[in-house]
Amino acid sequence: MADFPKTFVWGAAAASYQIEGAVEADGRGQSVWDMFCRKPGMVWNGHTGDVSCDHYDRYAEDVGLMKQMGLQAYRLSIAWPRIQPNGVGKPNAAGLDFYDRLVDALLAAGITPWVTLFHWDFPLALYHRGGWLNRDSADWFADYTTHVVERLSDRVKHWMTLNEPQVYIGAGHMEGRHAPGDKLAFKEALLAGHHTLLAHGKGVQAIRAASKQPALVGYAPVALSKMPHDPKSAADIAAARQHMFTVAAETAWTNTWWMDPVFLGHYPEDGLEFFGKDAPTPHADDLETIAQPLDFCGVNIYQGQYVRAGADGKPEEMPMPVGARLTAFEWYVTPDAMYWGPKFLHERYGKPIVITENGISNRDWVALDGKVHDPERIDFTQRHLLEAARAIADGIPIQTYFHWSFIDNFEWAHGYKHRFGMVFCDYENGGTRTIKDSGHWYAEVIRTNGASLG
Ligand code: FCB
Repeated sequence: MADFPKTFVWGAAAASYQIEGAVEADGRGQSVWDMFCRKPGMVWNGHTGDVSCDHYDRYAEDVGLMKQMGLQAYRLSIAWPRIQPNGVGKPNAAGLDFYDRLVDALLAAGITPWVTLFHWDFPLALYHRGGWLNRDSADWFADYTTHVVERLSDRVKHWMTLNEPQVYIGAGHMEGRHAPGDKLAFKEALLAGHHTLLAHGKGVQAIRAASKQPALVGYAPVALSKMPHDPKSAADIAAARQHMFTVAAETAWTNTWWMDPVFLGHYPEDGLEFFGKDAPTPHADDLETIAQPLDFCGVNIYQGQYVRAGADGKPEEMPMPVGARLTAFEWYVTPDAMYWGPKFLHERYGKPIVITENGISNRDWVALDGKVHDPERIDFTQRHLLEAARAIADGIPIQTYFHWSFIDNFEWAHGYKHRFGMVFCDYENGGTRTIKDSGHWYAEVIRTNGASLG
């Protein structure tokens, strides 16, 4: 039977631009996503986050649903342009007030807020000043962070700086398929990446300096787990571990390039070699700033790849078998990513693990019986949580799990095509919410502290 420690925390996550709507309310400035959504052809069917779930106006109802599900923690993000409409300068009181109300509502419902400072809604005004390519971006971020922490840290203890830098730098600044939609040369993208890592470090310093209570601080990169093709083979396990932390063209963007500087204080050597003259030249002390001590290793885990020891002893990535399980996003369902990913990350970085996101896109709708039946989400989550339990049993300190997502939302370039929530949002009919079968199922998992997983 799945055995979770009594201290294990069960949560769900969402992010500001994906659920809030109300993009013009109370002095909010524009973000790069507001601009990007208006570029023809960039978002599926021309969708935008203008209204989304209207969580900005309906947060009290949403917190009520979270309470009904028994969530113990909720990972939310703050929209920087609500706090500083131009990205810098005097904070906008009405923007801070919104998060103040949200935090109070969560606490009143017995739900611990975990706050991410940046989940991709970068202020458009700062993009016009060079965005992450401008080295000042690290100070802009630290200043913004200070305002938020000064306001909320009497009640908020758990903080994350950045969500998935490899995605907003890679997809947003290099591939051009996310906001702001740039296709920078590799060297420039890596420079923007360096500045964003610096922003992380300065952000951590700002949190520790401004917090009114001892803060627990982390970071939320995505990791592509590598799993041994044969979990009984020591050679395959070693190959998977090596592959997870090797910089190759396709993995530089997912693992060590973004985690070694933060946890180990240096860029991975193979990456520096591989990227050669494209690699950034850090200023003195940059890496010390980036490597501020963290309290946990947050990680978004959605999928992984199988690796075996090849004939020449080198790791060899295995193709997925014909007919392998796929989500609506066409991501492979690989539950053991939730065992091997945390295990390898813990071995390398030595931190407790917080699963900051994990979930599945599904084609859900309201059935004739008025309910939302999402057996795939239940099965997906059950399998992943059982793997988390296995990792915990093997001594890997996974402390917290956030399901992505609490509610269906704006899935970036895919608009509303994908549904990730445990709560259904009926966008067409005034945003009516329905807790899906998975939400009721998760409530039972939480109530039994995982025992109901079997
Ligand atoms: C992650 C993002 C999150 C959501 C999920 C599906 O990459 O952090 O906002 O879009 O994927």
